[in-house]
Amino acid sequence: MPPLHLLPAAESAERSALVDPYGRAITYLRLALTDLCNLRCTYCMPARGLPKLGHSALMRYEELNRLLAVLISAGIRKVRITGGEPFVRKGSMDFIRALPRRFPRLTSVNITTNGVDLAPRLGLLKKAGIHNLNISLDALDRELFHSITRRDQFVPVLETVRSALEMDFHVKINVVLMRGVNENQIPAFVDWARREKLTIRFIEQMPFNASGENDTFIPAREILQQLRREEPALSAIPGSATAALYSAPGFSGALGIIAAYTRTFCGSCDRLRLTPTGGLQTCLYAAPQLNVRDMMRAGATDGEILAAVKKLIARRGRDGFEAEKKNNGALPSMAQIGG
Ligand code: 5AD
Ligand code: SF4
Repeated sequence: MPPLHLLPAAESAERSALVDPYGRAITYLRLALTDLCNLRCTYCMPARGLPKLGHSALMRYEELNRLLAVLISAGIRKVRITGGEPFVRKGSMDFIRALPRRFPRLTSVNITTNGVDLAPRLGLLKKAGIHNLNISLDALDRELFHSITRRDQFVPVLETVRSALEMDFHVKINVVLMRGVNENQIPAFVDWARREKLTIRFIEQMPFNASGENDTFIPAREILQQLRREEPALSAIPGSATAALYSAPGFSGALGIIAAYTRTFCGSCDRLRLTPTGGLQTCLYAAPQLNVRDMMRAGATDGEILAAVKKLIARRGRDGFEAEKKNNGALPSMAQIGG
């Protein structure tokens, strides 16, 4: 029997010590480095941003590395770095770049970014063995991008996506689709996936914008109808999980739909989320139920932290609707939870 870290991911996932009451092994951590951002997307945060957190409220890098060691020993195999915008936090590049070497049992380290500060970092990320980038881009039009993000950064972000493709990164574009706002961008996005080797995923809008509103929401089934109107030959790519993926003859890339609000994928969810302030959540719609920052600062041992994480996972709900029912607090911003 080879040592555990040499086993393929699926096999080691079966051994995960983190299994919820419905038999789902938790193997994937989404780690939000900060709630700050250099854009102000309307569906995510108010124009003036979020109330500023004191620096000591954030999980320190040493604390993050310690938590990762504990979680990886229990079966986490995949990490996604998110925010806010991860690259606005000082020291984030050094932290991220070191992950693949520091934790060889991780099968992938991925990043979700808005792309604004990504260009000068591409080379170093490649060198560190980080190949997967999810880039948020809600419009292929400068003015519309500006009105959605409240910042005029379309040209540099698009240039950065092009460089990333040239450098052979696996690029996924995230588009939050909003009624009457960027629906008209669908033809341009579909064309892009036809021409380029990237995956464009349309995300249902969720009420995580610090106000709880979701009035421009478009359901996944309607998004699919709109995509089929552009490309009738679209067919499902089997085996996809969170995103339902589609392609068509002649496409270099693929299209995807993420039913983030209608929540049709919960049955296979393998994720745990860490908020920038150390809250662990078993679902996007759940309240943070355990604060590992506070535990660490109160002197908890690794064993105590792992026991608390296991207890949290043992209470995990069946799906995002059940989690939401138990969570009757005010709805936060996506940047406070981690996208
Ligand atoms: N609804 C849906 N998606 C959102 N994101 C941020 N806020 C929302 C929301 N309210 C997306 C970002 C990013 C991903 C991590 O989450 O666009 O691509
Ligand atoms: Fe920033 Fe992402 Fe929120 Fe936009 S959605 S404001 S890019 S954190």
